[in-house]
Amino acid sequence: MELTPVLERYIEQNSEDEPVLLKALRRETYQKTTQPHMVSGVLQGRILSLLSRIISPRLIVEIGTFTGYATLCLAEGLSETGKIITIDKNAETAYIPKKYFKESAFSEKIDFKEGNALEIIPCINEPVDLVFLDADKENYLKYVELLKPRLRSGGIILADNILWKGKVVMELKEKKTEAIKEFNKQIKEDSSLEVVILPIRDGISIIRKK
Ligand SMILES: C[S@@+](CC[C@H](N)C(=O)[O-])C[C@H]1O[C@@H](n2cnc3c(N)ncnc32)[C@H](O)[C@@H]1O
Repeated sequence: MELTPVLERYIEQNSEDEPVLLKALRRETYQKTTQPHMVSGVLQGRILSLLSRIISPRLIVEIGTFTGYATLCLAEGLSETGKIITIDKNAETAYIPKKYFKESAFSEKIDFKEGNALEIIPCINEPVDLVFLDADKENYLKYVELLKPRLRSGGIILADNILWKGKVVMELKEKKTEAIKEFNKQIKEDSSLEVVILPIRDGISIIRKK
């Protein structure tokens, strides 16, 4: 079944509503950034929120904050004492998430770290319950390598853009496409992990550490 724009609207209308603050964040992302398409969609945001509520994590790690849309969706499910560490290296866009985190109900629970995730992840010393991978595709495997030992048994990694606009089934030999194909292959082959790919938006893998 093809997801037409009309069906997409129907799905959104019959799912949880996008919170008002997130509507404003999305608008500002489109007005003020050069790559607004990077922001999570409404449906994806509600899925992240619901999954986070089901898990009720104590510690979430997000790789790739951008304007903070997914951070705020994931934060909705944090346990009472939980927190989210979100990492981004883009200093130019950082003023947007900072503003919205402050305005949100989760300002005390969000630890926004500016810098390269490859250097920041090794400094995380607490057990991680939930990871959202949404940064440079070439490093997805490295992120999993760094985060797996920190992830508790039963912990979840959500990895975005796993179908890469359908390019994963094409013979394109593009660097990013090849990196995602290799990621999908290695995650499937890793006996310490369980994985299911959801065909939502650009594809989201739900990966569980056994
Ligand atoms: C697709 S956007 C994230 C979108 C956001 N998670 C959302 O749902 O709205 C990817 C972000 O990853 C960041 N990024 C890319 N490579 C990174 C790295 N090595 N360390 C930290 N951030 C990185 C980029 O600056 C960009 O803001």
